[in-house]
Amino acid sequence: MLKSHYCGLLRKEHVGKEVRLAGWVHRRRHHGGLIFIDLRDREGIVQVVFNPSEAPEAYQVADEVRTEYVLYVKGIVRARPPGMENPNLPTGEVEVLATEAEILNPARTPPFYIDREEEVDEALRLRYRYLDLRRQRMKENIIFRHRVVKFIRDFLDERGFIEIETPILIKSTPEGARDYVVPSRLHPGKFYALPQSPQQLKQLLMVAGFEKYFQIARCFRDEDLRADRQPEFTQLDIEMSFVDREDILQLIEELFISLVENLTDKRLKYKPFLRLSYQEAMERYGTDKPDLRFELPLCDLTEIAAESEFGIFRKVVEEGGVVEGMSVPGAASYSRRQLDEMSKKAQEFGAKGLVWLAFISEGVKSPIAKFFSSGQLEAIRERAGAGEGDLVIMVADEREKALEIMGKMRQYIGRSLGLADEDELAFAWILDFPLVQWNEEEQRWDPVHHPFTAPLDEDIPLLDTDPARVRAKAYDIVCNGWEIGGGSIRIHQRPLQEKIFKLIGLSEEEAKAQFGHLLEAFEYGAPPHGGIAPGIDRLVMLLRGEPNIREVMAFPKTQAAVDLMTGAPAPITEEQLAELHLRLVL
Ligand code: AMO
Repeated sequence: MLKSHYCGLLRKEHVGKEVRLAGWVHRRRHHGGLIFIDLRDREGIVQVVFNPSEAPEAYQVADEVRTEYVLYVKGIVRARPPGMENPNLPTGEVEVLATEAEILNPARTPPFYIDREEEVDEALRLRYRYLDLRRQRMKENIIFRHRVVKFIRDFLDERGFIEIETPILIKSTPEGARDYVVPSRLHPGKFYALPQSPQQLKQLLMVAGFEKYFQIARCFRDEDLRADRQPEFTQLDIEMSFVDREDILQLIEELFISLVENLTDKRLKYKPFLRLSYQEAMERYGTDKPDLRFELPLCDLTEIAAESEFGIFRKVVEEGGVVEGMSVPGAASYSRRQLDEMSKKAQEFGAKGLVWLAFISEGVKSPIAKFFSSGQLEAIRERAGAGEGDLVIMVADEREKALEIMGKMRQYIGRSLGLADEDELAFAWILDFPLVQWNEEEQRWDPVHHPFTAPLDEDIPLLDTDPARVRAKAYDIVCNGWEIGGGSIRIHQRPLQEKIFKLIGLSEEEAKAQFGHLLEAFEYGAPPHGGIAPGIDRLVMLLRGEPNIREVMAFPKTQAAVDLMTGAPAPITEEQLAELHLRLVL
């Protein structure tokens, strides 16, 4: 090795030692006839001193370098003179007196500062990702991610799990997104699909008898991107045989708690994790991934609204809709402008309008108060849990839409009131999801998770009579408003799997063509099994307090699924197209 030590790891115990260092010039300054260079490597920064009278050649080299030059230095570690220590730097008690130096490679001036934690345009960061990754925060994120994955591997290995790789070129596994496909050169007109997840393969590994499987699995989904979505991402994919739901919840809970407690300074709000049914989550928080660091519950005001004189509410209720409300603490004194801002937000979330009642000491202030009797106003106040000084906001719409809008308002208000503590993690399980939901556009039932999820035993008869009411043996783990992972106990018997395929509109032939291998495997002694897949990117984002998953991925793509550094996607040559038997129609 060219270097004997990492710059960032030099401490008092190294004083007197000769060291060989190599890294990047972080900063350089002339002071009192000397040159000081902060030399940076993976582990951090150390101050190197160049003295023209003691090492004139090394001084000459130091005089030539610019920021981000790659530099080799040989020198002696010494304690910094008293009063010159830097308590903000882990190496701040020492410095290296250079005896030799060599430029290993010069560098152009970077397009943004590496040594400052300031906002840089993200397009520029992604275009020069290798420079962006030199910045401390990004470097720490990537190293932290390594620790998380290592922790997970050790944890699962100790518990008897076997890590097995599954192929990337497969046949489509549906998870509700579009497939990325790869044309086959050897089989004209045929395509591989990249896995949206290893779902079917991990189930087949259970049929194969491995009993406890995991994989740090790359998944590919062609879907609209958001802060928590990338076209390719990584799951901790887990599957177990001979388990029930409780076994999987316990395993993940233990893993997550020990991850947080061993690798972060964050506080866990719930230990054990909170559990909510899907229905409770929707009714109380308007979403199946509530931010539970704060309460701000929604309330159903439909009955009261129906009896009021307020025409808009009455009409919505007559048409089968609902009125959802929420008390915003301390907001009765909001200015006109603040109230307008809140209404605008609600409209952004899809509301036709937002109505409010301010409970002040003189009574109720609101443009619509006159449409409500004092008894009705009191009933609203009570149901919303509002006190003097609070503001009750209300939205009327179809049930699902009203809940969705108010769920988003809750999230928006909770965060803007500062109710979401950045140092807290509020993990919760969402249980008893519906198995299927009606797809109005396609006029068919769609799986809420995926078609391999088992229904609750007692709900199986409803498959024939009332599919909407069938609950699934499915669970999601959520935290601070993000869905971190999802899983289920699976169907492991062919007749039930065939029944579900039929329910979601697959003909017998289609089911066989798409999933024949799985149906067949179920006839060769498939054990009861289940699993889960937390998203590694989302988990690391949350543990690091980052606002999106791009910050914890080494080479992410933009929201438009473009790699700005390499320029993918890119055209291919005529020869490649011909080999693949493809002609472009643009
Ligand atoms: P699901 O589709 O819910 O379940 O995905 C599980 C978890 O994967 C992560 N995730 C994503 N992360 C980043 N970008 C994306 N585009 C993206 N899509 C999903 C999320 C999500 O919670 N096979 C099932 C799991 C199972 O049943 O065992 C599955 O993939 O964190």
